[in-house]
Amino acid sequence: MAEKFDAVDVIRTKRDKQRLSKDQIDWVIDAYTRGVVGDEQMAALNMAIFLNGMDREEIVQWTQAMIDSGETMSFAGLSRVTSDKHSTGGVGDKITLPLAPLVASFGVAVPQLSGRGLGHTGGTLDKLESIPGWQAEISNERMMEILEDPGCVICAAGAGLAPADKKIYALRDITSTVDCIPLIASSIMSKKIAEGTANLVLDVKVGSGAFMKDIDMARELARTMVDLGTDAGTNTVALLTDMSVPLGRTVGNALEIRESVEVLAGGGPLDVVELTLALAHEMLEMAGVHDADVDAALKDGRAMDTWKKMIRAQGGDPDAALPTAKHTHVVTAERDGYLTEMDALAVGVASWRLGAGRARKQDPVQAGAGIEIHAGLGEKVAKGQKLFTLHTDDEDRFERALESLNPGIAIGDEAPTLRSSVVLDRIS
Ligand code: URA
Repeated sequence: MAEKFDAVDVIRTKRDKQRLSKDQIDWVIDAYTRGVVGDEQMAALNMAIFLNGMDREEIVQWTQAMIDSGETMSFAGLSRVTSDKHSTGGVGDKITLPLAPLVASFGVAVPQLSGRGLGHTGGTLDKLESIPGWQAEISNERMMEILEDPGCVICAAGAGLAPADKKIYALRDITSTVDCIPLIASSIMSKKIAEGTANLVLDVKVGSGAFMKDIDMARELARTMVDLGTDAGTNTVALLTDMSVPLGRTVGNALEIRESVEVLAGGGPLDVVELTLALAHEMLEMAGVHDADVDAALKDGRAMDTWKKMIRAQGGDPDAALPTAKHTHVVTAERDGYLTEMDALAVGVASWRLGAGRARKQDPVQAGAGIEIHAGLGEKVAKGQKLFTLHTDDEDRFERALESLNPGIAIGDEAPTLRSSVVLDRIS
Protein backbone atom coordinates (compact mmCIF):
# COMPACT_ATOMS: atom_id res chain seq x y z
CA MET A 1 0.00 0.00 0.00
CA ALA A 2 1.29 3.46 -0.91
CA GLU A 3 2.28 5.66 2.02
CA LYS A 4 0.14 8.77 2.60
CA PHE A 5 3.11 11.16 2.90
CA ASP A 6 6.79 11.34 2.19
CA ALA A 7 9.08 11.82 5.21
CA VAL A 8 11.19 14.34 3.28
CA ASP A 9 8.13 16.59 2.78
CA VAL A 10 7.21 16.38 6.46
CA ILE A 11 10.77 17.30 7.50
CA ARG A 12 10.82 20.19 4.98
CA THR A 13 7.53 21.55 6.36
CA LYS A 14 9.01 21.93 9.86
CA ARG A 15 12.44 22.97 8.57
CA ASP A 16 10.68 25.85 6.76
CA LYS A 17 8.88 26.86 9.99
CA GLN A 18 5.42 25.71 8.80
CA ARG A 19 2.82 23.93 10.95
CA LEU A 20 2.59 20.15 10.71
CA SER A 21 -0.97 19.02 9.98
CA LYS A 22 -2.77 16.43 12.11
CA ASP A 23 -2.49 13.94 9.23
CA GLN A 24 1.22 14.55 8.80
CA ILE A 25 1.85 14.01 12.52
CA ASP A 26 -0.29 10.87 12.72
CA TRP A 27 1.45 9.45 9.71
CA VAL A 28 5.04 10.25 10.67
CA ILE A 29 4.71 8.80 14.20
CA ASP A 30 2.95 5.68 12.93
CA ALA A 31 5.37 5.21 10.02
CA TYR A 32 8.37 5.64 12.32
CA THR A 33 6.94 3.04 14.74
CA ARG A 34 6.47 0.67 11.77
CA GLY A 35 10.04 1.30 10.59
CA VAL A 36 8.98 2.97 7.31
CA VAL A 37 10.45 6.33 8.38
CA GLY A 38 14.14 5.88 9.22
CA ASP A 39 16.06 6.97 12.32
CA GLU A 40 17.96 9.59 10.30
CA GLN A 41 14.67 11.08 9.09
CA MET A 42 13.09 11.19 12.55
CA ALA A 43 16.36 12.67 13.91
CA ALA A 44 16.17 15.44 11.29
CA LEU A 45 12.51 16.09 12.12
CA ASN A 46 13.27 16.22 15.87
CA MET A 47 16.02 18.75 15.21
CA ALA A 48 13.65 20.86 13.07
CA ILE A 49 11.12 20.76 15.94
CA PHE A 50 13.88 21.61 18.41
CA LEU A 51 14.85 24.67 16.36
CA ASN A 52 11.42 25.85 15.16
CA GLY A 53 9.03 24.62 17.86
CA MET A 54 5.44 23.41 17.67
CA ASP A 55 2.21 25.23 18.49
CA ARG A 56 -0.32 23.97 21.00
CA GLU A 57 -2.38 22.02 18.45
CA GLU A 58 0.70 20.34 17.04
CA ILE A 59 1.85 19.33 20.54
CA VAL A 60 -1.60 17.90 21.36
CA GLN A 61 -1.58 15.90 18.13
CA TRP A 62 2.03 14.70 18.57
CA THR A 63 1.13 13.50 22.08
CA GLN A 64 -2.04 11.75 20.88
CA ALA A 65 -0.20 10.04 18.04
CA MET A 66 2.34 8.64 20.53
CA ILE A 67 -0.49 7.42 22.80
CA ASP A 68 -2.12 5.77 19.76
CA SER A 69 1.13 3.97 18.91
CA GLY A 70 0.51 1.49 21.75
CA GLU A 71 -1.87 0.21 24.38
CA THR A 72 -3.64 2.23 27.04
CA MET A 73 -4.32 1.10 30.57
CA SER A 74 -7.24 1.74 32.87
CA PHE A 75 -7.45 1.84 36.64
CA ALA A 76 -11.22 2.34 36.50
CA GLY A 77 -11.85 -1.14 37.97
CA LEU A 78 -9.98 -0.35 41.20
CA SER A 79 -11.88 0.38 44.40
CA ARG A 80 -9.44 3.25 45.14
CA VAL A 81 -9.01 6.56 43.29
CA THR A 82 -5.59 6.89 41.56
CA SER A 83 -3.13 9.73 42.04
CA ASP A 84 0.24 9.66 40.35
CA LYS A 85 3.37 11.83 40.50
CA HIS A 86 5.97 12.38 37.82
CA SER A 87 9.27 14.19 38.26
CA THR A 88 11.22 15.58 35.31
CA GLY A 89 14.34 14.20 37.03
CA GLY A 90 17.03 15.53 39.31
CA VAL A 91 20.02 14.74 41.49
CA GLY A 92 19.20 12.93 44.74
CA ASP A 93 15.52 12.90 43.75
CA LYS A 94 14.29 9.96 45.81
CA ILE A 95 10.89 11.51 46.60
CA THR A 96 8.82 8.75 44.94
CA LEU A 97 10.09 6.29 47.55
CA PRO A 98 8.57 7.85 50.69
CA LEU A 99 5.76 9.59 48.75
CA ALA A 100 4.01 6.56 47.20
CA PRO A 101 3.47 4.69 50.50
CA LEU A 102 2.61 7.91 52.33
CA VAL A 103 -0.22 8.73 49.90
CA ALA A 104 -1.38 5.09 49.74
CA SER A 105 -1.67 5.03 53.54
CA PHE A 106 -4.66 7.41 53.09
CA GLY A 107 -6.53 4.93 50.86
CA VAL A 108 -5.50 6.37 47.49
CA ALA A 109 -3.92 4.12 44.80
CA VAL A 110 -0.49 5.27 43.60
CA PRO A 111 0.72 3.65 40.36
CA GLN A 112 4.34 4.61 39.73
CA LEU A 113 5.39 3.18 36.38
CA SER A 114 9.03 4.16 36.44
CA GLY A 115 12.19 3.93 34.40
CA ARG A 116 15.87 3.31 34.89
CA GLY A 117 18.32 6.19 34.99
CA LEU A 118 20.27 7.45 32.02
CA GLY A 119 22.93 10.13 32.42
CA HIS A 120 23.41 12.02 35.67
CA THR A 121 19.84 11.68 37.04
CA GLY A 122 19.14 8.45 38.89
CA GLY A 123 16.33 6.03 38.10
CA THR A 124 13.82 4.99 40.74
CA LEU A 125 13.98 1.34 39.64
CA ASP A 126 17.80 1.32 39.97
CA LYS A 127 17.42 2.57 43.52
CA LEU A 128 14.82 -0.04 44.50
CA GLU A 129 16.84 -2.83 42.88
CA SER A 130 19.46 -2.33 45.58
CA ILE A 131 16.96 -3.90 48.06
CA PRO A 132 17.70 -7.66 48.20
CA GLY A 133 15.09 -9.66 46.26
CA TRP A 134 13.07 -6.72 44.92
CA GLN A 135 11.73 -7.19 41.36
CA ALA A 136 10.81 -4.32 39.01
CA GLU A 137 9.01 -6.44 36.41
CA ILE A 138 5.51 -7.58 37.38
CA SER A 139 2.40 -8.51 35.38
CA ASN A 140 -0.50 -6.08 34.96
CA GLU A 141 -2.71 -8.43 37.03
CA ARG A 142 -0.24 -8.38 39.93
CA MET A 143 0.06 -4.61 39.64
CA MET A 144 -3.71 -4.24 40.05
CA GLU A 145 -3.69 -6.56 43.10
CA ILE A 146 -0.95 -4.52 44.77
CA LEU A 147 -2.81 -1.29 43.96
CA GLU A 148 -5.75 -2.63 45.98
CA ASP A 149 -3.49 -3.63 48.86
CA PRO A 150 -1.20 -2.04 50.06
CA GLY A 151 -2.24 0.59 47.48
CA CYS A 152 1.03 1.64 45.86
CA VAL A 153 3.27 0.04 43.31
CA ILE A 154 6.56 1.14 41.78
CA CYS A 155 7.38 -1.02 38.77
CA ALA A 156 8.79 -1.00 35.24
CA ALA A 157 6.49 0.53 32.64
CA GLY A 158 5.46 -2.17 30.14
CA ALA A 159 6.88 -2.01 26.60
CA GLY A 160 3.37 -1.54 25.20
CA LEU A 161 2.81 2.00 26.58
CA ALA A 162 3.60 4.69 23.97
CA PRO A 163 6.21 2.61 22.07
CA ALA A 164 6.74 5.52 19.64
CA ASP A 165 8.01 7.61 22.54
CA LYS A 166 10.49 4.91 23.59
CA LYS A 167 11.99 4.89 20.08
CA ILE A 168 11.98 8.66 19.71
CA TYR A 169 13.37 9.27 23.20
CA ALA A 170 16.33 6.94 22.55
CA LEU A 171 17.02 8.85 19.32
CA ARG A 172 16.74 12.26 21.02
CA ASP A 173 19.20 11.11 23.64
CA ILE A 174 21.93 10.58 21.03
CA THR A 175 21.10 13.57 18.79
CA SER A 176 21.05 16.37 21.40
CA THR A 177 17.31 16.99 21.07
CA VAL A 178 16.17 16.11 24.59
CA ASP A 179 15.88 19.56 26.16
CA CYS A 180 13.04 20.85 23.98
CA ILE A 181 9.74 21.83 25.61
CA PRO A 182 7.30 20.39 23.00
CA LEU A 183 9.26 17.12 22.85
CA ILE A 184 9.65 16.71 26.64
CA ALA A 185 6.00 17.62 27.31
CA SER A 186 4.62 15.22 24.70
CA SER A 187 7.02 12.45 25.77
CA ILE A 188 6.08 12.59 29.45
CA MET A 189 2.37 13.21 28.95
CA SER A 190 1.88 10.51 26.28
CA LYS A 191 3.05 7.92 28.84
CA LYS A 192 1.03 9.37 31.71
CA ILE A 193 -2.19 9.69 29.68
CA ALA A 194 -1.74 6.16 28.23
CA GLU A 195 -1.26 4.87 31.80
CA GLY A 196 -4.71 6.17 32.67
CA THR A 197 -4.27 7.76 36.11
CA ALA A 198 -7.19 9.97 37.18
CA ASN A 199 -4.98 12.55 38.92
CA LEU A 200 -1.41 13.61 38.22
CA VAL A 201 1.01 15.89 40.03
CA LEU A 202 4.08 16.96 38.05
CA ASP A 203 7.30 17.86 39.84
CA VAL A 204 9.05 20.10 37.32
CA LYS A 205 12.66 20.60 38.37
CA VAL A 206 14.47 23.90 37.84
CA GLY A 207 18.23 24.50 38.09
CA SER A 208 21.63 23.16 37.10
CA GLY A 209 20.73 19.52 37.84
CA ALA A 210 17.52 19.65 35.75
CA PHE A 211 16.62 19.81 32.04
CA MET A 212 15.21 23.28 32.61
CA LYS A 213 17.94 25.59 33.88
CA ASP A 214 15.77 28.68 34.32
CA ILE A 215 12.39 29.23 35.90
CA ASP A 216 10.65 30.77 32.87
CA MET A 217 11.45 27.73 30.73
CA ALA A 218 10.32 25.42 33.56
CA ARG A 219 7.08 27.39 33.87
CA GLU A 220 6.43 27.02 30.15
CA LEU A 221 7.11 23.27 30.31
CA ALA A 222 4.79 22.92 33.31
CA ARG A 223 2.03 24.96 31.63
CA THR A 224 2.30 22.85 28.45
CA MET A 225 2.08 19.57 30.39
CA VAL A 226 -0.78 20.72 32.64
CA ASP A 227 -2.76 21.79 29.54
CA LEU A 228 -2.07 18.48 27.78
CA GLY A 229 -3.24 16.51 30.82
CA THR A 230 -6.30 18.63 31.46
CA ASP A 231 -7.40 18.46 27.80
CA ALA A 232 -7.06 14.67 27.88
CA GLY A 233 -9.26 14.39 31.00
CA THR A 234 -6.42 13.79 33.48
CA ASN A 235 -6.68 16.14 36.46
CA THR A 236 -3.15 17.68 36.38
CA VAL A 237 -1.20 20.20 38.48
CA ALA A 238 2.52 21.01 38.57
CA LEU A 239 4.92 22.20 41.26
CA LEU A 240 8.13 23.92 40.13
CA THR A 241 10.87 22.82 42.53
CA ASP A 242 14.50 23.77 43.03
CA MET A 243 17.20 21.53 41.58
CA SER A 244 20.19 23.85 41.83
CA VAL A 245 21.50 21.79 44.77
CA PRO A 246 21.00 18.03 45.27
CA LEU A 247 17.90 16.94 47.18
CA GLY A 248 18.74 15.61 50.63
CA ARG A 249 22.09 14.32 51.84
CA THR A 250 22.61 11.28 49.61
CA VAL A 251 22.99 10.62 45.88
CA GLY A 252 23.21 7.01 44.64
CA ASN A 253 21.05 3.91 44.71
CA ALA A 254 21.31 2.13 48.10
CA LEU A 255 22.34 5.41 49.76
CA GLU A 256 19.07 7.03 48.63
CA ILE A 257 17.03 4.04 49.83
CA ARG A 258 18.62 4.44 53.27
CA GLU A 259 17.68 8.14 53.36
CA SER A 260 14.12 7.42 52.17
CA VAL A 261 13.68 4.91 54.99
CA GLU A 262 14.84 7.63 57.42
CA VAL A 263 12.05 9.88 56.07
CA LEU A 264 9.54 7.04 56.45
CA ALA A 265 10.71 6.64 60.04
CA GLY A 266 9.79 10.28 60.74
CA GLY A 267 13.31 11.76 60.28
CA GLY A 268 15.44 12.56 57.23
CA PRO A 269 16.63 15.82 55.65
CA LEU A 270 14.26 18.81 55.83
CA ASP A 271 14.13 19.48 52.06
CA VAL A 272 13.20 15.85 51.29
CA VAL A 273 10.50 15.91 53.97
CA GLU A 274 9.18 19.30 52.78
CA LEU A 275 8.86 18.19 49.16
CA THR A 276 7.37 14.80 50.08
CA LEU A 277 4.70 16.52 52.19
CA ALA A 278 3.94 19.17 49.54
CA LEU A 279 3.48 16.57 46.78
CA ALA A 280 1.47 14.25 49.06
CA HIS A 281 -0.83 17.13 49.92
CA GLU A 282 -1.45 17.85 46.21
CA MET A 283 -2.02 14.19 45.33
CA LEU A 284 -4.46 13.66 48.18
CA GLU A 285 -6.43 16.88 47.57
CA MET A 286 -6.88 15.90 43.91
CA ALA A 287 -8.09 12.46 44.96
CA GLY A 288 -10.68 14.05 47.25
CA VAL A 289 -8.86 13.42 50.55
CA HIS A 290 -8.93 16.89 52.11
CA ASP A 291 -6.83 18.23 54.98
CA ALA A 292 -4.97 14.93 55.50
CA ASP A 293 -2.39 15.05 58.30
CA VAL A 294 0.45 13.74 56.13
CA ASP A 295 3.12 14.70 58.62
CA ALA A 296 1.49 12.48 61.28
CA ALA A 297 1.46 9.50 58.87
CA LEU A 298 5.25 9.79 58.51
CA LYS A 299 5.78 10.16 62.25
CA ASP A 300 3.43 7.41 63.51
CA GLY A 301 4.64 4.60 61.22
CA ARG A 302 1.59 4.32 58.90
CA ALA A 303 3.65 5.24 55.81
CA MET A 304 6.46 2.89 56.92
CA ASP A 305 4.05 -0.04 57.27
CA THR A 306 2.77 0.57 53.74
CA TRP A 307 6.37 0.82 52.42
CA LYS A 308 7.28 -2.55 53.93
CA LYS A 309 4.19 -4.19 52.45
CA MET A 310 4.94 -2.62 49.04
CA ILE A 311 8.54 -3.90 49.07
CA ARG A 312 7.47 -7.41 50.17
CA ALA A 313 4.75 -7.51 47.49
CA GLN A 314 7.53 -7.35 44.88
CA GLY A 315 9.78 -9.95 46.50
CA GLY A 316 12.00 -7.56 48.46
CA ASP A 317 13.09 -7.78 52.08
CA PRO A 318 12.61 -4.32 53.60
CA ASP A 319 14.60 -5.29 56.70
CA ALA A 320 17.65 -6.74 54.90
CA ALA A 321 20.98 -4.91 55.06
CA LEU A 322 21.57 -2.71 51.99
CA PRO A 323 24.65 -3.23 49.83
CA THR A 324 27.65 -1.01 50.47
CA ALA A 325 30.51 -0.07 48.13
CA LYS A 326 34.00 -1.56 48.54
CA HIS A 327 35.86 1.75 48.71
CA THR A 328 35.26 5.20 50.18
CA HIS A 329 37.05 8.53 49.84
CA VAL A 330 36.44 11.50 52.12
CA VAL A 331 36.53 15.10 50.83
CA THR A 332 37.28 17.72 53.51
CA ALA A 333 37.01 21.53 53.64
CA GLU A 334 40.17 23.28 52.44
CA ARG A 335 39.53 26.36 54.59
CA ASP A 336 37.21 27.85 57.20
CA GLY A 337 34.11 29.63 55.88
CA TYR A 338 30.58 29.09 54.57
CA LEU A 339 29.63 26.53 51.94
CA THR A 340 28.52 28.96 49.21
CA GLU A 341 28.10 26.56 46.31
CA MET A 342 27.09 22.92 45.88
CA ASP A 343 26.14 22.51 42.26
CA ALA A 344 23.58 19.76 41.62
CA LEU A 345 24.97 18.87 38.19
CA ALA A 346 28.55 18.57 39.51
CA VAL A 347 27.41 16.24 42.32
CA GLY A 348 25.15 14.25 39.96
CA VAL A 349 27.89 13.70 37.38
CA ALA A 350 30.38 12.75 40.13
CA SER A 351 27.95 10.14 41.51
CA TRP A 352 27.35 8.81 38.01
CA ARG A 353 31.11 8.51 37.44
CA LEU A 354 31.43 6.57 40.70
CA GLY A 355 29.15 3.93 39.14
CA ALA A 356 25.70 4.92 40.45
CA GLY A 357 24.41 5.65 36.92
CA ARG A 358 24.90 4.28 33.44
CA ALA A 359 26.28 5.77 30.22
CA ARG A 360 24.52 3.28 27.95
CA LYS A 361 21.15 1.60 28.42
CA GLN A 362 22.66 -1.86 28.78
CA ASP A 363 25.28 -0.89 31.42
CA PRO A 364 24.87 -2.24 34.98
CA VAL A 365 24.82 0.16 37.94
CA GLN A 366 26.61 -0.28 41.26
CA ALA A 367 24.10 -0.52 44.12
CA GLY A 368 26.49 0.93 46.71
CA ALA A 369 28.05 3.72 44.64
CA GLY A 370 27.30 7.40 45.20
CA ILE A 371 27.91 10.36 47.46
CA GLU A 372 27.03 11.21 51.04
CA ILE A 373 26.81 14.94 51.69
CA HIS A 374 27.87 15.88 55.23
CA ALA A 375 27.48 19.69 55.10
CA GLY A 376 24.62 21.61 53.51
CA LEU A 377 24.68 24.77 51.40
CA GLY A 378 25.20 27.84 53.61
CA GLU A 379 26.60 25.82 56.52
CA LYS A 380 29.61 27.15 58.42
CA VAL A 381 32.52 24.73 57.99
CA ALA A 382 36.01 24.49 59.49
CA LYS A 383 39.19 23.55 57.65
CA GLY A 384 39.54 19.75 57.60
CA GLN A 385 35.82 19.14 58.29
CA LYS A 386 34.23 16.27 56.34
CA LEU A 387 32.13 17.56 53.41
CA PHE A 388 31.48 14.43 51.32
CA THR A 389 32.10 10.70 51.36
CA LEU A 390 32.43 9.15 47.90
CA HIS A 391 31.51 5.46 47.52
CA THR A 392 32.44 3.06 44.69
CA ASP A 393 33.47 -0.54 43.97
CA ASP A 394 36.28 0.64 41.61
CA GLU A 395 38.96 2.76 43.26
CA ASP A 396 40.11 4.17 39.93
CA ARG A 397 36.79 6.01 39.56
CA PHE A 398 37.57 8.53 42.34
CA GLU A 399 39.77 10.77 40.20
CA ARG A 400 37.17 11.42 37.46
CA ALA A 401 34.43 11.87 40.06
CA LEU A 402 36.50 14.49 41.89
CA GLU A 403 37.15 16.31 38.58
CA SER A 404 33.39 16.85 38.41
CA LEU A 405 32.73 17.46 42.11
CA ASN A 406 35.52 19.92 43.03
CA PRO A 407 34.63 22.78 40.60
CA GLY A 408 31.01 22.63 41.81
CA ILE A 409 31.92 23.33 45.45
CA ALA A 410 32.96 26.70 46.90
CA ILE A 411 33.70 27.98 50.41
CA GLY A 412 33.45 31.77 50.95
CA ASP A 413 33.59 34.32 53.75
CA GLU A 414 29.93 35.38 53.57
CA ALA A 415 26.93 33.14 54.20
CA PRO A 416 24.92 32.83 50.94
CA THR A 417 21.23 33.75 50.73
CA LEU A 418 19.30 30.50 50.88
CA ARG A 419 15.99 29.68 49.18
CA SER A 420 13.07 29.87 51.58
CA SER A 421 11.39 26.75 50.18
CA VAL A 422 12.19 23.95 47.76
CA VAL A 423 8.81 24.64 46.08
CA LEU A 424 9.17 27.67 43.79
CA ASP A 425 5.76 27.88 42.13
CA ARG A 426 2.54 25.99 41.43
CA ILE A 427 0.78 25.73 38.04
CA SER A 428 -2.78 24.45 37.72
N1 URA B 1 11.46 12.23 30.59
C1 URA B 1 10.76 11.70 29.58
O1 URA B 1 10.08 10.70 29.76
N2 URA B 1 10.82 12.29 28.39
C2 URA B 1 11.56 13.40 28.15
O2 URA B 1 11.56 13.89 27.05
C3 URA B 1 12.29 13.93 29.21
C4 URA B 1 12.22 13.34 30.44
